[in-house]
Amino acid sequence: MWLLNSSIGKKLIMSISGLFLILFLLFHLTMNVAAVFSEEAYNVICSFLGSNWYAVAGTGVLAAGFLIHIGYSILLTLENRKARGNDRYAVNARPKNVEWASQNMFVLGLIVVCFIVLHFSQFWYHMMFAELIGHHEVELGGQAIGTTDGAAFIKYYFSNIVVVILYLVWYVALWFHLTHGFWSALQTIGWNNTIWLNRWKIIANIFATVIALGFAFVTIFFYLKSLC
Ligand code: HEM
Repeated sequence: MWLLNSSIGKKLIMSISGLFLILFLLFHLTMNVAAVFSEEAYNVICSFLGSNWYAVAGTGVLAAGFLIHIGYSILLTLENRKARGNDRYAVNARPKNVEWASQNMFVLGLIVVCFIVLHFSQFWYHMMFAELIGHHEVELGGQAIGTTDGAAFIKYYFSNIVVVILYLVWYVALWFHLTHGFWSALQTIGWNNTIWLNRWKIIANIFATVIALGFAFVTIFFYLKSLC
């Protein structure tokens, strides 16, 4: 089947799964910005996204999206390396007009995934997973925190400057990954006339900046709040 076997089919799957993850990011950012305005409202959202069947099903679909996106990125990277053989070391200079991000998408994606593992161990593991195995509270830094008290987890982790810096590094990698990934996905699905491609590149830069700055805003806001 061409979708699974051809290079363009694999790129199409990567693009569609990437756009799906972008939609998740938009939702996740909106949800987290709510914490700045109302911790109570944020915790209502966290309870809704707890161990309820629909939230667990959503997590399953999201995990499938991540696995497909990562799996196909590995397949395509290996294929490209095989096709280029030893020549991949022959030219080191980057051709003009080729963005740095486009040449480093795999490494940027890898950095993003490493931070997602850290993020999961801090939030998802202590919240949804803890609930799924029957806990209603977990102990963090000597205090008991309810598994749906997302605001308390945010306050706990973002009061630590090392965690804050690590998260900011994560957002920078995410910014680079999104600036290229967004418009490249639209190009792959066929939105590739010159006028629209240039517009998508600008929209991708704006979108990536809003996402990265939005998450950074939440992170820094809670760090500063912890100092007061
Ligand atoms: C200010 C920054 C962020 C905060 C405060 C935050 C907060 C949270 C919280 C509280 C959860 C647990 C929800 C639950 O299990 O009920 C969660 C899960 C998650 N976060 Fe974040 N997050 C942030 C940034 C990010 C970023 C940048 C990404 C991706 C690049 C991300 C990806 C995820 C994923 C994939 C999940 C699992 C969702 C699920 O269980 O369906 N988060 N986050």
